[in-house]
Amino acid sequence: MPVNPKESMLTLNFAELSPQQVQMFLQYAVAPRPIAFVSTTDAQGQVNLSPFSFFNLFSSNPPILVFSPARRVRNNTTKHTLDNVMQVKECVINIVNYDMVQQTSLASTEYALGVNEFKKAGLTPLASERVKPPRVKESPVQFECKVREVISLGDTPGAGNLVIAEVLLMHIAEAVLDAEGKIDQQKMDHVARLGGDWYSRVTPESLFKVAKPLTTLGVDALPEAIRLSAVLTGNNLGQLGNVEQLPELSAEERAVLEQECAGLSSEEVHLKAKQLLDKGSVAEAWKLLLV
Ligand SMILES: Cc1cc2nc3c(=O)[nH]c(=O)nc-3n(C[C@H](O)[C@H](O)[C@H](O)COP(=O)(O)O)c2cc1C
Repeated sequence: MPVNPKESMLTLNFAELSPQQVQMFLQYAVAPRPIAFVSTTDAQGQVNLSPFSFFNLFSSNPPILVFSPARRVRNNTTKHTLDNVMQVKECVINIVNYDMVQQTSLASTEYALGVNEFKKAGLTPLASERVKPPRVKESPVQFECKVREVISLGDTPGAGNLVIAEVLLMHIAEAVLDAEGKIDQQKMDHVARLGGDWYSRVTPESLFKVAKPLTTLGVDALPEAIRLSAVLTGNNLGQLGNVEQLPELSAEERAVLEQECAGLSSEEVHLKAKQLLDKGSVAEAWKLLLV
């Protein structure tokens, strides 16, 4: 049941909460987060592999990925991954799909320094071409990166460290490509991290598209009777405002629609339009609303 955020709100002042509480609220709210499965090596060449969901893409030219190994909230210690990238400024960021999510989680166990998580998690190291840390063979996309910079966000428990990684090479499993050699979103089977132990899986059923024309009318340009409709939802208004121009109605179409709507209240017309919008038929919904 969707919650109406306007009804009542819990407002948090982080200064009054413990670092654990702050982390919990942030991780449940800022979700789902993609997972970087990061392999690094220390100065002696020992390999480490750990997942980080404080992770995203920040630039395509130069191609920059950023992840954040934070100081442990529990005891303020730093993670091996951070220590390693300070010693050897390289990493491989492997993308996590559903088939490897349990092994990824296993690799997050806090093993002693020098323990190779590839072995612990039962994953296969694959030699990289430009950097020392190996790739994860099971991962559908692997980025070989050089670490440009590490930005420390503090020295208190929970403080992040932004590892700014520039992609040198990207490897993509052919199994996730379409006929044109592009990544097929439906084949990636991404998983993402949410709060606590929650994860989500991007299945073909959970994917949807949102059309985005270059210029749009905007919700503010909608007639008041539509904007203030008791039937149309925020998503419906977004769909109606997300068109470059209103559809043209032929005299014939107008006559048919007028007949269809004869005797209907404006709420009933909005309900019909809503059904069309929920099916993705935006132009048809607009035509109905224009009569
Ligand atoms: C899916 C997943 C995502 C995680 N994301 C992060 C993260 O973004 N930052 C972080 O500091 N720890 C994160 N962790 C916890 C680390 O993986 C864990 O502390 C790990 O032991 C660090 O390993 P290391 O000391 O070998 O680098 C995550 C764990 C999992 C399972």
